[in-house]
Amino acid sequence: MTTTLTGELPTATVPERPLLELINISKEFDVRSGGRRATLSAVTSVSLQVKEGRTLGIVGESGCGKSTLARVIVGLHPATGGEMIFDNRQIATRGRRPRDVVEQMQMVFQDPSSALNPRATVGESIAFPLRVRGASPKTISERVTRVINDVGLPTSYADSYPHQLSGGQRQRVNIARALALQPKLVVLDEAVSALDKSIQAQVLNLLTDLQRDYRLTYVFISHDLNVVEYVSDDVAVMYLGQVVERSPAADLYRTPLHPYTQLLLSSIPALDPGQRTVADHDPGAGRDTEIPSPIDPPSGCRFRTRCPFAGPVCAELAPAPVEAEPDHLVACHAYGEHRDSLPRLPSSVPIPLPRKDPE
Ligand SMILES: Nc1ncnc2c1ncn2[C@@H]1O[C@H](COP(=O)(O)OP(=O)(O)O)[C@@H](O)[C@H]1O
Ligand SMILES: [Mg+2]
Repeated sequence: MTTTLTGELPTATVPERPLLELINISKEFDVRSGGRRATLSAVTSVSLQVKEGRTLGIVGESGCGKSTLARVIVGLHPATGGEMIFDNRQIATRGRRPRDVVEQMQMVFQDPSSALNPRATVGESIAFPLRVRGASPKTISERVTRVINDVGLPTSYADSYPHQLSGGQRQRVNIARALALQPKLVVLDEAVSALDKSIQAQVLNLLTDLQRDYRLTYVFISHDLNVVEYVSDDVAVMYLGQVVERSPAADLYRTPLHPYTQLLLSSIPALDPGQRTVADHDPGAGRDTEIPSPIDPPSGCRFRTRCPFAGPVCAELAPAPVEAEPDHLVACHAYGEHRDSLPRLPSSVPIPLPRKDPE
C-alpha cells in the first residue's frame, strides 16, 4: 500500500461523506385538469446521496421532475414528504431553514439573462446577498472582486450591465453570484444548456476548477447526456418523478441497466455520438416517445407503458431499487425477486427499442 510522505492514508481509502442526503423526497402540486382539481406528482419518493466535493448528475426527459427536485433541495419549494440531511444536520423540507443553511446551498438557473436584474450592475447583483447579510462595505468589495476574477472575468466587469455581456459571460456572473456567499452545495439546473457548444465547454471547465478551488459539491441537472457524463461522478436517471437508476457515471454510461436508461442512451443518434441529448418532450410527438401524465401516472412501474420488457407484475407493483451491481442501483422488476417472470433484459449494450408503427 502506498502512503504519502506525511504518513496519511491515500485519499482513495477515506470513505466519502455524503454532504446531502435526500430520503423519500416527494413534491406534489395541486393543479386543475379538465376543470377538476387534481394532484400532480412531480417528484415521488426520491432518495439520493450527494458526496462531499463531488458532482451528482441528474438526467431525464423534460417534465420528469428535475427542476422541481432542485427547488425542493434549495428550499424554493416546500416538499410534500420526505427528509433531508445536509452537512450532518436534519433540515426542514417544508418550513423555514436557518440562514446559514440557506446560504450554504446556492442555485444557478438556465436562463442567464432573466436571472440577473437588468437594471443592476454585475457588481451590485453579486453584492446584493452579501449586503442583505450585513457584510461590511470592505468585505463586500473584496468578495465581489474575488469572485468576478475567479469566474474568469476582469474586475472592470463589476460596472457592466447584463445586456452588455455575452450569454457565457452572464452565466459566469450567475456563478460568481452563487459563490459570493461561499456555499458548500451548488445546484446547477440546465446551467449550460442555453450556451453554444464551445462556450459550454469553457463554462464546464470553469465549474470543474471552481469545484476544486472552493471545495464545492454539485448537483448538476441537464437533459444533455454528454454534458452530464463530462462533469458527474455519480448519475441519477429520473423518469416521471422517480429515480430509476443511480450509479457512478462511468458504470451508467458503460452498463446502463434500466430499460429507460438504455432507451435514453440508444435514442441518441448513433451517427453523431457528440449530440447526445434527451429531446424536449413534445406531447404531440410520435407515440413511441409519449410520456404518461404525472397527474395520473401508470400503476406499478411508471415506465411500463414504454417498456418492451414489461410483464404483468410491472402493472401491479412499483419496483424497489436493488443494488444490481456494486454501488449501482436500479428500480426494475427485472433485477428484483420477480426477475424470472420477465423477459431477459440485455445485460450491457444499449439496444434500440422497437418503434411502434403508426396505425
Ligand atoms: N409550480 C408548478 N405547478 C404545477 N405543476 C408544476 C409546477 N412546476 C412543475 N410542475 C410540473 O411538474 C412536472 C415536473 O416539472 P419539472 O420539475 O419542471 O421537470 P423538468 O425540470 O425535469 O423538465 C411537470 O409535469 C410540470 O408540469
Ligand atoms: Mg427543468
